[in-house]
Amino acid sequence: MSAASAGPAYDLDAWRARIPLLASCIPMNNCSQAPQTAATRAAAERYLDSWNERGMDWDAWLAEVALAKAEFSTLIGAAPSDIAVFSSVSEAASAVASALDLSGRRRGIAVSDAEFPTVAHVWLAQAPRGARVSFARVCDGTIDPTAYDTLIDDRTALVSACHGYYANGFIQDVRRIAAQARDAGALSFVDAYQTLGVVPVDVRALGVDFLTSGNLKFLMGMPGIAFLYVRPEVVGSLHPTVTGWFGRADPFASTARALDWSPTASRFDTGTPPVMSAYVARAGMEVINAIGPSKIRAWHEVLGQRLIEGGRSRGLRLHGADDMARKTATTAFLVPDPGAVERAMRARGVLPTARGEVLRLAPHFFTTIEDVDRALDLLAELAPGR
Ligand SMILES: Cc1ncc(COP(=O)(O)O)c(C=O)c1O
Repeated sequence: MSAASAGPAYDLDAWRARIPLLASCIPMNNCSQAPQTAATRAAAERYLDSWNERGMDWDAWLAEVALAKAEFSTLIGAAPSDIAVFSSVSEAASAVASALDLSGRRRGIAVSDAEFPTVAHVWLAQAPRGARVSFARVCDGTIDPTAYDTLIDDRTALVSACHGYYANGFIQDVRRIAAQARDAGALSFVDAYQTLGVVPVDVRALGVDFLTSGNLKFLMGMPGIAFLYVRPEVVGSLHPTVTGWFGRADPFASTARALDWSPTASRFDTGTPPVMSAYVARAGMEVINAIGPSKIRAWHEVLGQRLIEGGRSRGLRLHGADDMARKTATTAFLVPDPGAVERAMRARGVLPTARGEVLRLAPHFFTTIEDVDRALDLLAELAPGR
C-alpha cells in the first residue's frame, strides 16, 4: 500500500468533521489563514459568554493567556516561563530589536531575502540606532546554507532567519545558523510562522535564542496574537525598551517609578494582552498538539510530494525546492497574474494564495489526496500560457 492510499496516522474523517468550511470548499491557503474548527469557535464563544455574563473576569482571562503561553511552549519544547505574548510577529521582533545594544562594535544584523518583509523591516528600522543589516541571498527560491558564512563575524549582534520561506515553503537549517551565530558571540532569532504546526520544532535542540510565530496560519488560530520564545540563559541580560506593565516582576504591584524586570521571558510582555485571541490561539494549538506535529509532518510529506509530482505532470512550473526534505508541503507555482488565478480558483471552490509572481497551494492535516488533485487540475486549467 502506498503512503498516499494509507492515509495519515490519525482519524482524518473525524478531524474533517470538525471543520465546517470543508463542506463547501477546499482550503489550500493554510500558509495564510487556516479555517475555523469547532474548537476555536467554541473558545471565542467562551470569551464572549464570560464577558457577557460576568462583565469583567480578569483573573480567568489572564489565566487563559497563561494557558495559551503554556500550549505554545509545549509545541516548541520549552517551559511556559520562556514565552512572551504580543499582538503580532512584527511587535515581537520590535521588542527584541529594542533589547539589542547597537552602540558598540557589535552592530551587525544578518538576515535573509526570504524573511517575511515585516521582520527585515524591523531590523532595517534600527539603522538610526547603529544597525548594519546584511542579507543572505535567495537564488532560485532557496538559500545556500553557506550564504550566511560571510555575513556573520565578531561584529554581528543578531542573526535572523526564517525557518520556512513564506513564498514557497523552503526550510532553512536553523540549527546550523544558530550555531554559527553562537560561535560568533551573536544572538539568533527565528521566525517559525511558516513551520510551526507542520514541522516538529524543539527550541533546545535547535539552540536558538529567540523563536516567534503568530497563530493564524498552520496553528489554526486568528489574528491579534503572536508568541516569542526567549532562551532562559539570555533573558536576564536583555532589557527591551518596547515594554509595558506586563513586563514587570509583578504587574499589579508595580509603581510608576520602579522598573522591576520580570526574571523570565515575560519581561518581554508589554501592555494588556490580546485576551480573545489567546482563547482561540490555545484552542487551535491544542488541535495541533493533540494530533502531533510529527504525524502532521508525515502526512504533509505525502501531500507535498503529490503537489510536486502532480504539478510537474500537469506542466506547471515549480518555484523553489523540489524535494520534501527541504520544504514544507506549501508548494508554489510560477503563473502569469497569480492574483487573477487566485480569484478564479476561489470562484470554483478552491482557496489558494497569490504572492508576488507565484500561486501557493498550502495543504494542512485535514487535506485529502483528492483535494490536492482537484486544486492542481483547476490550476492547470486556469493558468494558460504558464
Ligand atoms: C513567515 C512570516 N512571518 C511574519 C508574518 C507576519 O507577521 P505579523 O503580521 O504577525 O507581524 C507572516 C505572514 O503574515 C509570515 O508568513
